[in-house]
Amino acid sequence: MAGRGGAFALVALCMLELALLHGAGAGAGERLVPAMFVFGDSTVDVGNNNLLPVCKPECRANYPQYGVDHPSHAPTGRFSNGYNLADQIAKLLGFNESPPAFLSLQAEGIIPRMNDGINFASGGSGLQNQTGEHCGGVYSMADQLEEFTLVVKMMGNSSYDLISRSLFFISVGSNDLFEYAHAKNPPPNRNDTAFLKCLVDSYKTYLQELHALGARKFSIVSPSLVGCCPSQRAAALQHHNDFDELHCFRPANNLSKQLYALLASKLQELGGDLDGMHYSICDSAGMAEMVFTPGGAKDPTVVDTACCAGPGPFGVGLCNTSATLCPNRTNFVFWDSFHPTEYASGLAASALFIDNGKFVRPINVGQLAAL
Ligand SMILES: *[C@@H]1O[C@H](CO)[C@@H](O)[C@H](O)[C@H]1NC(C)=O
Ligand SMILES: *[C@@H]1O[C@H](CO)[C@@H](O)[C@H](O)[C@H]1NC(C)=O
Ligand SMILES: *[C@@H]1O[C@H](CO)[C@@H](O)[C@H](O)[C@H]1NC(C)=O
Ligand SMILES: *[C@@H]1O[C@H](CO)[C@@H](O)[C@H](O)[C@H]1NC(C)=O
Ligand SMILES: *[C@@H]1O[C@H](CO)[C@@H](O)[C@H](O)[C@H]1NC(C)=O
Ligand SMILES: *[C@@H]1O[C@H](CO)[C@@H](O)[C@H](O)[C@H]1NC(C)=O
Repeated sequence: MAGRGGAFALVALCMLELALLHGAGAGAGERLVPAMFVFGDSTVDVGNNNLLPVCKPECRANYPQYGVDHPSHAPTGRFSNGYNLADQIAKLLGFNESPPAFLSLQAEGIIPRMNDGINFASGGSGLQNQTGEHCGGVYSMADQLEEFTLVVKMMGNSSYDLISRSLFFISVGSNDLFEYAHAKNPPPNRNDTAFLKCLVDSYKTYLQELHALGARKFSIVSPSLVGCCPSQRAAALQHHNDFDELHCFRPANNLSKQLYALLASKLQELGGDLDGMHYSICDSAGMAEMVFTPGGAKDPTVVDTACCAGPGPFGVGLCNTSATLCPNRTNFVFWDSFHPTEYASGLAASALFIDNGKFVRPINVGQLAAL
């Protein structure tokens, strides 16, 4: 399956050049928003799971190979070889990297850190409370919101101005889809639409809660084509070769595609209802479809196999000390069985920041920050 990333990389690289030409992204020493608050799953976790004592090892990113390209060259709890999507967006906004993991802050440090932002994301978690239970204990979106609410209440009225001008960056939903697609003993007449509507209703509740606390600028990353990650391509082999036209696990991709449409229309509705709400939604499923469609090979050229490769097909397995590392990380879309490389998430971040309606709607994150 080599050779499928070309179109995406070309477009994204052109965007990156455009971004530089037109001065998109923060200038030196400048911040486009006062603070950034991050919620979601392993796509944006920067160390919360590592600090959750009940979280099982397979739901933590602290195997030695993680962070190999991070400035510390050590595992930091990011599910990546280096920076993740939250870091890359933070950099474009003028920060050095993502705000710190909530659980890394001492109690007395939490309120002062609000001025730059905090990251509440927890790998394995989802929109539904029970998602991630197999991890032994992660912070669901409801838990993340609960912690944020406590901090805002502690700050009192002084939080309002800060929160209304800050960026709320949310990347969640993939784990709900994975668990649904792989449910043991699903009932015979399971209704996918009802399930997806339920996810979108939960999303709506979280956004309403954040809005009630003063949040106004939301950047929402819809789940990517979850059936295309190496673990799901390997799953297709186990399910009578149920591959779709992208050579990905068909039922999982089907859910991702439907979810984007439902989420986009829910956001449009909320944008009309909630006073002062502004949002940017990224159609990650659409973007991924471009990445995984054959044609115009450039880079990253390896789109189906994990760079940190375990013993299974498509390099599936734990990215532990027995795993082998690909020599060139900019040549791979996937770092491990589930997560993109730093390079791939950097391309996605630049698209989020400057895309004009192809995948990022109705405005991009650069425009959202500037409001
Ligand atoms: C999810 O958890 C939150 C906080 O723990 C709780 O308030 C909420 O009722 C739960 N939601 C459902 C649907 O169980
Ligand atoms: C906070 O603001 C609300 C409404 O603006 C006001 O009613 C309340 O008295 C304020 N509280 C404090 C502690 O300033
Ligand atoms: C599935 O759920 C949707 C939304 O709740 C509903 O409109 C539809 O009729 C259901 N389909 C079936 C076959 O029950
Ligand atoms: C998803 O699967 C359903 C049922 O198999 C099918 O009707 C629908 O067209 C598919 N949707 C997409 C977006 O692939
Ligand atoms: C690494 O994980 C693989 C499964 O992917 C397992 O077979 C192997 O024993 C693990 N190695 C170590 C050192 O834990
Ligand atoms: C790594 O891969 C990229 C993309 O294919 C390529 O541009 C670059 O030259 C490679 N670097 C090395 C050191 O081989």
